[in-house]
Amino acid sequence: MNKLLLRGRVLTFVDEPQSVDDQSAYTYFEDGAVLIENGKIAEVGDYAAIATVAGPLAEIVDHRPRLILPGFIDTHLHFPQTQAIASYGAQLLEWLNTYIFVEEQKFSSTAHADFIAGRFMDELLRNGTTSAVAYCSVHPESVDAYFAAAEKRNMLMIGGKVMMDRNAPDALRDTPQSGYDDTKALIAKWHGRSRAQYAISPRFAITSTPEQMEMSRALVREHPECYVQTHLSENRDEIAFATSLYPSAKDYTDIYAGYDLLGEKTLFGHCIFLSDREIVALAETKSVAVFCPTSNLFLGSGLFDRDRFRSLGARISVATDVGGGTSFSMLETMSEAYKVLHVQGQRLSPFASYYMMTLGNARALGLEDRIGSLRAGTDADIAVLDSRAKPAMELRMRTATTLAEELFILQTMGDDRSVAEVYVAGKAMKSRIDNAVPLARSLAVPEPA
Ligand code: GUN
Ligand code: ZN
Repeated sequence: MNKLLLRGRVLTFVDEPQSVDDQSAYTYFEDGAVLIENGKIAEVGDYAAIATVAGPLAEIVDHRPRLILPGFIDTHLHFPQTQAIASYGAQLLEWLNTYIFVEEQKFSSTAHADFIAGRFMDELLRNGTTSAVAYCSVHPESVDAYFAAAEKRNMLMIGGKVMMDRNAPDALRDTPQSGYDDTKALIAKWHGRSRAQYAISPRFAITSTPEQMEMSRALVREHPECYVQTHLSENRDEIAFATSLYPSAKDYTDIYAGYDLLGEKTLFGHCIFLSDREIVALAETKSVAVFCPTSNLFLGSGLFDRDRFRSLGARISVATDVGGGTSFSMLETMSEAYKVLHVQGQRLSPFASYYMMTLGNARALGLEDRIGSLRAGTDADIAVLDSRAKPAMELRMRTATTLAEELFILQTMGDDRSVAEVYVAGKAMKSRIDNAVPLARSLAVPEPA
């Protein structure tokens, strides 16, 4: 049996922290170890005890003094927008029309989709993200590229073809029937293959006709095993446009409710301007509101009100929303989340942040039995973090005295450089990526025509 023993400072959550230093929410081993057997976590604990269990034949990788955590999970981003990050100046609808709907047309080329899919997965891994939920383009081939790249790396990835049949360029439009047929075929091909999971993806109410929303309802009814992802209440102009297209709906959320699209496998991106009624509707159906802080700031959208979701009992997750979001790093994302909440008088503690990136997001996906923690029996998707990755971090860390302080420094100052290694189903990946695509060479490699 193939045994790998990782030694380091091990941190994993068992529950959501209820206060700044709720020690019952996490397990921490100062000289800890994670024993991996055949891609799964076999044991976690103090190094001395785990080394005895592992026996003399286990391969040992000593990551001390680094932190060993579950791999991060990103619950909302757009794989075809990888090269459209940092597009200047516009708010949501203008940004979509000016940049995004132009960029996504490139994914009619299989060669381009394959190239970006590989770079996209590597970028996630470089940032310590081992699982994510992404939108592909309207082209079914983009979904093939996406899941093939994930399969090659053995990553647990969720995704789907966007369906959009209006208010988009001709080249990006499907029809209610073709969107349905393509989605059915992609579910049959990918859902449950390797670690792939499918997300039925009507982009948002603005780009789907009532006929396409009907087809989405049919898909969800026929495939309750799949996720659903869409956008909700991100921008004031978007809300006005969406509700004008569905005049009989009570509000934006009610548009989706009218097609039975709310539910515990549904992820609603953004949810910034929801009324209490709408949040209660999400809570009652166990739908998930996805907080995308870098995107909400970058697109000038607004501020997500975490406390209101919590007080009304709605589920939330957190995500980068690349390319409206400006970084693949969940550390940078949580740094911005902290600021978005701080400016509203809400505090996000370091432990709560790391919970959200790991077990919290796994729970939002209903995948806590597989990912998001270092519990025995779960998949060995792991991030190894270096709190001293940059000179300024090293200097700051000299004054840190607690784990909470260290985590906060890592979140506030860290990025991909703070991810020393990442394991996917027990296999070390980051060093492979860095060796395979050194920066100078990757710049020199031409993209496919
Ligand atoms: N709403 C509909 N499509 C998109 C998208 O691609 N990005 C963001 N941020 N919002 C959207
Ligand atoms: Zn999005």
